[in-house]
Amino acid sequence: MKTILVTGGCGFIGSHFIRQFLKKHPDFKVVNLDKLTYAGNPDNLKDVSKNRRYKFIKGDIVDKETVGTIFKKFKPDFVINFAAESHVDRSIHGYADVFVSSNIYGVFNLLEAALRQAQGKIKKFVQVSTDEVYGSLSLNSKVKFTERTQYNPRSPYAASKAAGDLLCHSYFATYGLPVVVTHSSNNYGSFQYPEKLIPFFALRALKNKPLPLYGDGKNVRDWIYVLDNTEAIGKALFKGKPGEVYNIGGDNEVANSGIAKRILQILRKPDSLIKYIPDRPGHDRRYALDGSKVRKELGWKPRYGFDKMLAETIKWYRDNPAWIRSAVKRLKTVNSHIEI
Ligand SMILES: NC(=O)c1ccc[n+]([C@@H]2O[C@H](COP(=O)([O-])OP(=O)(O)OC[C@H]3O[C@@H](n4cnc5c(N)ncnc54)[C@H](O)[C@@H]3O)[C@@H](O)[C@H]2O)c1
Repeated sequence: MKTILVTGGCGFIGSHFIRQFLKKHPDFKVVNLDKLTYAGNPDNLKDVSKNRRYKFIKGDIVDKETVGTIFKKFKPDFVINFAAESHVDRSIHGYADVFVSSNIYGVFNLLEAALRQAQGKIKKFVQVSTDEVYGSLSLNSKVKFTERTQYNPRSPYAASKAAGDLLCHSYFATYGLPVVVTHSSNNYGSFQYPEKLIPFFALRALKNKPLPLYGDGKNVRDWIYVLDNTEAIGKALFKGKPGEVYNIGGDNEVANSGIAKRILQILRKPDSLIKYIPDRPGHDRRYALDGSKVRKELGWKPRYGFDKMLAETIKWYRDNPAWIRSAVKRLKTVNSHIEI
């Protein structure tokens, strides 16, 4: 039996990854280390909590001792780091310190433990990162980010993720630690914390509350269904070449106003619910990922269609009020300016 250490597995993408991974790999034990910030919820993995190959440990990747103990005790063969502060707005509005701490120092602790505690045993260390490290593209161009695009992060969130990535690359170059970095575009699906655009708009629309849209609403994101991303990350884990970067995009560019309108259409609500608000500072105009490398080298392509999965995603938020109530309750503990 092999062991994979997954950090941040009680969040949105990590929980989908663990569920999919346990199903696909009966020869693996999964250890999930998660601090349970407001964004993490162990109930996201309620269905696997009794699985004997699954173990949840509440702990902080910023705490060196915790991380060292976990590596010593479980001796993981593989590591995937999902743990991060992930909401850009919070990094802008006064909470950047915890982004720096979890997204940089936390990554450093994991790399150190992988290098020193595991002593050559780690077969692959996957750092899950974001297209936001590349900065912003212009609206009227066809240019996309490739793995060779220079980093140009423009929010404290993106800068903290970029720094974490660079530490990973340095541990490959200096010590030969078999690190792979994935950059995905915007994910959507069930279990996404409702401060994020799609669940936020869906829940507001369900209550006939206005959908606050930044600026002119024309900012474009490349949307990928979460299970497409987790599958690509799994491929990067087993087939990715150490030291390499893989961009995982959905080939699905949609303006934020387009997202708002589609959600309203699915819920049969009027466009008049859209309310334009002042733009967010440093708001990146467009993200788009060139996913040709991951398709060619890892044999992956997205399987899920946007319209169908968006409708299913919205239905999930409508049908899970207890999950929403628990998320909203946790949001109150972190002084959020968001009202869901
Ligand atoms: N959601 C997206 O669209 C997207 C896109 C690209 C990349 N990413 C990256 O994917 C990863 C997962 O994103 P997500 O959307 O699932 O985030 P999320 O906020 O839903 O989940 C993050 C999880 O990490 C845990 N965590 C946070 N700080 C921790 C710490 N110090 N120690 C241990 N656990 C900690 C939280 O409790 C939570 O369970 C992040 O690294 C993010 O940067 C996300």
